[in-house]
Order: sequence, then structure tokens, then C-alpha cells
Amino acid sequence: MTRLKTELLADKVVVVSGVGPGLGRSICLEAAAAGAKVVLAARTESRLKEVAAEIESEGGTTLSVSCDITDEDAVQNLLARTLETFGTVDVLVNNAFSIPSMKPLARTDFQQIKDSIDLTVLGGLRMTQAFTEALTESQGNVVMINSAVLRHSEPRYGSYKIAKAALLAMSQTLATELGDKGIRVNTVAPGYIWTEQLKWYFGEIAKKYGITEEQVYQQTASKSDLKRLPLPDEIAQTVVFLASPWANSITGQTIDVNCGEYHV
Ligand SMILES: NC(=O)c1ccc[n+]([C@@H]2O[C@H](COP(=O)([O-])OP(=O)(O)OC[C@H]3O[C@@H](n4cnc5c(N)ncnc54)[C@H](OP(=O)(O)O)[C@@H]3O)[C@@H](O)[C@H]2O)c1
Repeated sequence: MTRLKTELLADKVVVVSGVGPGLGRSICLEAAAAGAKVVLAARTESRLKEVAAEIESEGGTTLSVSCDITDEDAVQNLLARTLETFGTVDVLVNNAFSIPSMKPLARTDFQQIKDSIDLTVLGGLRMTQAFTEALTESQGNVVMINSAVLRHSEPRYGSYKIAKAALLAMSQTLATELGDKGIRVNTVAPGYIWTEQLKWYFGEIAKKYGITEEQVYQQTASKSDLKRLPLPDEIAQTVVFLASPWANSITGQTIDVNCGEYHV
């Protein structure tokens, strides 16, 4: 897919927490293509360097900071390094993710549910609390990455849904509480994302049922209006839109990006 070059985030400083190979990478690349200076944060430094190198090879500006968002000191260090380097923060994107328990809730260990909430909800809140003063100064905004799990109650997605539903509730309250500081808080809820990870998973399903990966794709995509699955860059472009001045009157809202799989 051709990257859309825009100036929607020209000279803005965008912090992305949870930069992995999937959506996190795409958010960083799309923000940079929209003119932003990008701060990349996650625990795996080598991944941050790889994504930063991609951005810099296209002329972009980056800062990589190894950070565990469940650790207060690490988050304060991320804030300090960002302000030392760029002097301001305009956008915070909370994207961090780890694969939750996929057991039925009736058999899910409480610790797994607590871990999921600790990362998704309290991690996002810790980041938002830490960056609130800087975002107040810049009249900036926060984008929370949620999931289409909000729209269904499929078995085995329980602990993921508990965490993401709480994240949505928290995001809406933050929009109300931070609104008078001029900070916007919005949510992007992707459905399937056509990443390497999903390609691998469809390959496994194909082997299990003796069909082709293409058939798994078609069966899955047939449930959406557009009969295809969104690319990570397409979801990242929605994040860029919400983060940009084009969304200056939008707060407390959720945009579902799922090729029409669910209507809300
Ligand atoms: N993938 C999908 O199909 C899908 C569908 C719907 C919604 N989503 C949502 O989209 C977002 C991105 O998902 P993705 O699969 O594309 O992931 P990704 O962007 O490829 O990677 C997310 C990264 O978060 C980082 N992370 C995990 N725990 C962390 C912590 N404690 N502190 C800092 N960083 C941490 C991990 O890197 P380190 O291990 O290096 O820290 C991981 O690589 C998630 O919020 C997910 O819920 C994904």
C-alpha cells in the first residue's frame, strides 16, 4: 500500500507506546509521513531501532526510549526524555498489547485477567496521567487503541473484552475530565488487521481444516461489507486523523475500522 504523505501532523510530537511489528509500527510510520516527530516506546529496544530506522530512511525524526508502561519510573523517564529532546508533546497514542488469556472466563486464572487490566487499563492511565501537563501546554490529544471485541461477546475473548471495555469507559471519562484543559481523548477500534501475525494464524487454521489460507481469508472477509480485511496502515491513518487538527472538535468518540464488519 502506498503511504499517504500529508501534513496533518506537521511539526507535532507524537508519542506511541507499545511499538510492535503490527499496528504500532504502522502508527509510527503514518505519523511520520504526516510530518510528526515520533517518540517510539516499548520494552524491546531492537524493535524500536528497526522502526526508527525505517522512519529516518524516509527523512523523519525519531526518539526511541525503552519503556515498560506498567512501571511508573520508566514512564517518567519516557516523559523526561521526550521533553528534553523535543520540548513538547502534542499526541499520545496508547497502543501497547500482549496476547491475553484465550480461555473461557469460567476457566481463566484471575492473575491473567489482572495482568490484562494492568497493561491495557492502568498502563494507558499511567501514561495519560504522566503526559497530562505536557498535553495541557500543547492543547494536545490522546488516542487509545481499542478493539472490535467491544462489539461482540465471542467465547474465549472474555479477559480481552473486560480490559478493552474498561479502557473504553476510562477513555470516555478522561475525555470529560481533561476537556476543560483543552485535551481531546478518542478511541480507534480495529477489527481484524491484515498483519503477518494474522497471516500466520490463518495458515494454521487452513492446515487444521485442510483448506487454503486464501479460503480462510475469504470466509473471514465475507462477514464484512467491503469483503476484505483492513491493512494496518489504514487503521493508522484513522489514528493520524483523530490526532490531527482536522479532528479538533472530536473528543470522547470511537471510530471503528473494520471494513464494515460491525455497525454501531
Ligand atoms: N492485531 C490485531 O488483529 C488487533 C485487532 C484489534 C485490535 N488490536 C489492538 O491494536 C493494538 C496493537 O496490536 P498489534 O497486535 O498490532 O500489536 P503491535 O503494535 O505489533 O505490538 C504491540 C506492542 O506492545 C508492546 N508492549 C506490550 N507490553 C508492554 C508494556 N508493558 N510496556 C510497553 N510496551 C508493551 C509490545 O512490545 P514489547 O514486548 O517490546 O514491549 C508489543 O510488541 C492493541 O491495542 C490491540 O489490542 C489488534
